[in-house]
Amino acid sequence: MLIEVDEGRCVGCGRCAADCVGSNLRVEAGVARVRGRCILCGHCVAVCPEEAVSIPCLDMADVEPAAPAAETIDAAALLRAIKSRRSVRDYLPRRVGDEALSLVLEAGRYTATAKNAQGCRFIVVQDGLEELKRIVWDGIDGLLELPASEAPRWTGPYRSFARDVRRDPARDFLFRNAPAALFVAAERADDAGLAAQSMELVAASAGLGALYNGYLCRAVEAIPQARAFVGADERPLQVCMLLGYPAVSYARTAPRKPGDFVVR
Ligand SMILES: Cc1cc2nc3c(=O)[nH]c(=O)nc-3n(C[C@H](O)[C@H](O)[C@H](O)COP(=O)(O)O)c2cc1C
Repeated sequence: MLIEVDEGRCVGCGRCAADCVGSNLRVEAGVARVRGRCILCGHCVAVCPEEAVSIPCLDMADVEPAAPAAETIDAAALLRAIKSRRSVRDYLPRRVGDEALSLVLEAGRYTATAKNAQGCRFIVVQDGLEELKRIVWDGIDGLLELPASEAPRWTGPYRSFARDVRRDPARDFLFRNAPAALFVAAERADDAGLAAQSMELVAASAGLGALYNGYLCRAVEAIPQARAFVGADERPLQVCMLLGYPAVSYARTAPRKPGDFVVR
């Protein structure tokens, strides 16, 4: 049984049945009973006031009391944090600590996914970053050596990136001087993007800076040795973020274009 209802605890309130996206639960004879298909979203666990519902195949030990609405982050404070977050392109020479990394990864893991697929792989490269740099830059050199008719069109801008880094390894447009790179592999780009946004916000709260790095993502995705090195399977790499402690601070938020909002 995917979902277990402790009949000794269940009071038949029906909240789990009312909140089930798949109409999988029904109260019969005063107790919730399970039937039908289930996407293991965990709403029945989360909504039950009696702690009567569990999903043994998931990590029940990690279930904790939800933050009451009044204790969730103040909306204006959260918006200010979003406005204050910046892409960080300059980092201190300091490793990303395990504790901060764990908070960041958990934020990705707990982010919503379509159909609750939870199909993202989160890849952190820190100890192996110098080796990844070597593989990526060698791979880019190889692509740039191809005859123009065979070189993928996207490689155009990488010619000047490669020239710069070969002249001075500190001028590395792809890796900057970040101590770590995080990749999200997933079938769906939206699942990966949402997880990345959660992770970036938690990273900023933990004092880390991040840079979404489309150029590096594309390069690693296109170089089979790099994909193998980072531990990618058949899922495409959808997101790459550099991570590290910022060597730059920002005194103000950055301006934006006027909002393109439609409200009917
Ligand atoms: C999907 C995505 C890919 C990006 N790729 C790169 C990149 O390859 N290199 C880079 O320097 N910045 C990259 N950026 C950062 C954007 O340039 C940056 O978000 C934008 O200029 C706004 O600045 P802010 O993030 O500080 O608000 C990327 C951003 C996103 C969302």
